[in-house]
Amino acid sequence: MTGPITGSATATRVAAVGDLAEGVPVRVEVAGTPVCLVRSRGELFAVGDRCSHADVSLAEGDVEEGAVECWLHGSRFDLRTGRPSGLPATKPIPTYTVTTEGDDVLVALTPSTSTGGTA
Ligand code: FES
Repeated sequence: MTGPITGSATATRVAAVGDLAEGVPVRVEVAGTPVCLVRSRGELFAVGDRCSHADVSLAEGDVEEGAVECWLHGSRFDLRTGRPSGLPATKPIPTYTVTTEGDDVLVALTPSTSTGGTA
């Protein structure tokens, strides 16, 4: 296991490490919450799968340089912090804790404090 899990949320298996291609976001659900799971530069990240500008899935966007880009209007959200780097979005999206156990990718609905899970 890599990275700490903090808080009381239970980590949920959402994918296999081998299922995640570099730079190809995947939408998963954790306890009914939509999560965008991303492998970027060899690390795993989980962020809320809802753009803070409007209710669209970020997993349908592109991943570049450690950020996921909203397909509708182009705001880019940092995968580590959830902060948008450009308009029209102005609010951050949540970041979640990702860990791995063997080939299992686990996500907990607690704010990420790590630099991403190791892929
Ligand atoms: S809906 Fe995502 S930037 Fe507008």
